Amino acid sequence: MTKMVDLVIFGGTGDLSTRKLLPALFQLHRHELAAPLRRIICTGRGEMEAATFQSDARTNLEKFLPTGAFDAAVWEQFSAKLDYIQIEADHGAHYEALAALLDQQSAEGVTRLFYLATLPSLYGAICQHLRDGGALGEQQRVVLEKPLGKDLDSCREINEQVAQVFAEEDTFRIDHYLGKETVQNLLAVRFGNPLFHPLWQNTYVDNVQITVAEDIGVEGRGSYYAKTGALRDMVQNHLLQVLSIVAMEPPASLEATDIRDEKMKVLRCLEPITETNVKHRTVRGRYDAGAVNGQAVSGFLEEAEYKDSAHTETFVALKATINSWRWAGVPFYLRTGKRLKKRYSEIVIEFKKQAFSLFANDPLELTNKLVIRLQPEETIMLHTLNKRPGLTKKLRLQPVELHLTNESRDTSENYDAYERLLLDAIHGDQTLFMRRDEVEAAWRWTDSIIDAWDQVDMKVEAYNSGTMGPSSATALLVRDDRSWYE
Ligand SMILES: NC(=O)c1ccc[n+]([C@@H]2O[C@H](COP(=O)([O-])OP(=O)(O)OC[C@H]3O[C@@H](n4cnc5c(N)ncnc54)[C@H](OP(=O)(O)O)[C@@H]3O)[C@@H](O)[C@H]2O)c1
Repeated sequence: MTKMVDLVIFGGTGDLSTRKLLPALFQLHRHELAAPLRRIICTGRGEMEAATFQSDARTNLEKFLPTGAFDAAVWEQFSAKLDYIQIEADHGAHYEALAALLDQQSAEGVTRLFYLATLPSLYGAICQHLRDGGALGEQQRVVLEKPLGKDLDSCREINEQVAQVFAEEDTFRIDHYLGKETVQNLLAVRFGNPLFHPLWQNTYVDNVQITVAEDIGVEGRGSYYAKTGALRDMVQNHLLQVLSIVAMEPPASLEATDIRDEKMKVLRCLEPITETNVKHRTVRGRYDAGAVNGQAVSGFLEEAEYKDSAHTETFVALKATINSWRWAGVPFYLRTGKRLKKRYSEIVIEFKKQAFSLFANDPLELTNKLVIRLQPEETIMLHTLNKRPGLTKKLRLQPVELHLTNESRDTSENYDAYERLLLDAIHGDQTLFMRRDEVEAAWRWTDSIIDAWDQVDMKVEAYNSGTMGPSSATALLVRDDRSWYE
């Protein structure tokens, strides 16, 4: 049975809490899944009465919940749990006040769940103050928002500091992509269908493509983004997490350790990209002015006021290879960028072409593909071929898309990734969270690319906003006689 949980959100006044965490918690209440949650204490730097925080929270929920989801009766129940406390991260006395607030309703067997949705550079100090200020209880867990550092060294430092206070089995590192229904559905499709099981390997798979395309620009995050770039911001976490789920071996069970062991093996098998091949394997781009969805937009350099921003990529495409029995010879093409033609995230498993054609039209151009859409809509489609209908003498092929998504799914079952992840953190299930060794392995691999870029002085190519990145991204696949699926 799940124990009762008191949740404390650091950064409770921030953008993430306002737009995602509080709406997700409200939805869990609405769907009667929040029974173990006794209290939700949000923190911010300013002094504020709990009633003021609650009133702001209500206004924000009405704004950010899906249409029709706000419910006054649920709000009564939700707001009764909602509290606020002022905490400046490095102010020890504030943690003693938090400890006193938590102790006011202390009870046996209650787990304290600390969600750190603030600057990652504060995580170490917050954890140590929680311990020193007496705010830890009988049992505790911590949830860490991304990004965990800006490279392997800084990530290790944060992990080390957190580990001095929280055990690894109590540490939940979020990558919200893992909370998406379709990513979990990928496990069901891969391991639940004998049809796919034998095909999922280099004998039958030609290549894998993972695209995370955004149509927005840096939107006020220019100075942060200028120091970060697309590789650190997106590839190190979301794209490598998705890649490891696509490529992992069947786990011994669906338990967190077994799944994470298999994901970790994939990360270990990723062939490093170094100065010897970085120019052939990667493309860096930066958006210039252009038009997205019919609107004229400016270029990154006009938006970001950071002196080094000319060296920052807002787009990256790369060819990764996995040195394993299953995947040797199969390229994994990854790309992500801002101000692209449209917003979508997709995984494409492209199967090998027929070795020989029996048909009148050229089927060698047509391949079977499994296309898994993560956003904006979550769908899985299998692209197959059948006969073009009609009385023509010759048999001709045409593509047919089979929907593997349950179209009749009750829309009340739709949920945001944060609902899934908060629920799992409340129940102490780590399956969809990243283990320390995974995050560090991902940084090790991306650090090697960044070092290689420095060594070869890799240029950042301009692309027009509203396109799918620089032409070199197309060339990356054309060189291999392939093309991006769009
Ligand atoms: N926003 C997103 O969509 C998103 C998505 C993924 C990950 N994240 C990550 O989530 C974290 C929060 O992002 P955000 O966008 O919500 O940031 P934000 O809007 O800038 O909010 C930051 C929060 O941290 C608090 N804070 C800042 N400095 C503090 C300090 N010295 N001591 C105590 N509290 C402090 C702020 O309190 P005051 O308001 O009282 O100043 C605020 O509640 C970051 O790690 C970010 O990378 C955000």
